[in-house]
Amino acid sequence: MAEYAVAITGASGAAYGLRLVRVLAAAQHRVHVVVSEGGARVLRHECELSLSHQAPSAELLAPAHAAQIVPHAFSNYGACIASGSYPLDGLAVCPASMGTIGRMAAGTGENLVARAADVALKEGRRLVVVPRETPFSRIHLRNLLTLQEAGATIVPANPGFYNAPQSIGDLIDFVVARVIEQLGSKQDLIEPWQG
Ligand SMILES: Cc1cc2nc3c(=O)[nH]c(=O)nc-3n(C[C@H](O)[C@H](O)[C@H](O)COP(=O)(O)O)c2cc1C
Repeated sequence: MAEYAVAITGASGAAYGLRLVRVLAAAQHRVHVVVSEGGARVLRHECELSLSHQAPSAELLAPAHAAQIVPHAFSNYGACIASGSYPLDGLAVCPASMGTIGRMAAGTGENLVARAADVALKEGRRLVVVPRETPFSRIHLRNLLTLQEAGATIVPANPGFYNAPQSIGDLIDFVVARVIEQLGSKQDLIEPWQG
């Protein structure tokens, strides 16, 4: 089984990040989780989940698979996933706010999300960024291009409708499935298009 990190930051669509954590954990992967202060606020607002960004609860993040979760404090840029020597298989920033995208593009490393992303890029590891904003400003687009050119994969939080989604959960799963594939893992949330 692989070892991934998921960063949930303060963009709308916290449910994408939560579902990603739960699906990866259910597949028996080890999942490091970082929640930014903004991410904790949006999780409260959109998912009615009250988490501390400095000590996120594994039981709340993945009630059925808490043992698979390794929570980290947002400010702890000394955590294991902040080091290139730690053999992480990939990091997904899901959802990714424009603030976090700006920090990652500038390589500031000022919190654990920015630092873990910086490490993924310098080590040539998978970094999957799930931006959520509309419309994009030129600054947002430049930052996204900078990240893509540095090696990140940009998976916008925009679900397709060709598989006849029946619920919000189906729309969430569409995006989460793409993220899991880009992390290099298999997913069985969404059937491949058969034409
Ligand atoms: C309910 C809510 C929804 C938000 N949605 C977005 C969004 O979709 N995209 C975005 O870039 N920022 C959004 N923001 C603003 C970010 O949360 C804010 O810029 C925050 O400072 C980002 O910090 P972080 O990147 O460390 O999480 C939202 C804020 C709130 C309270």
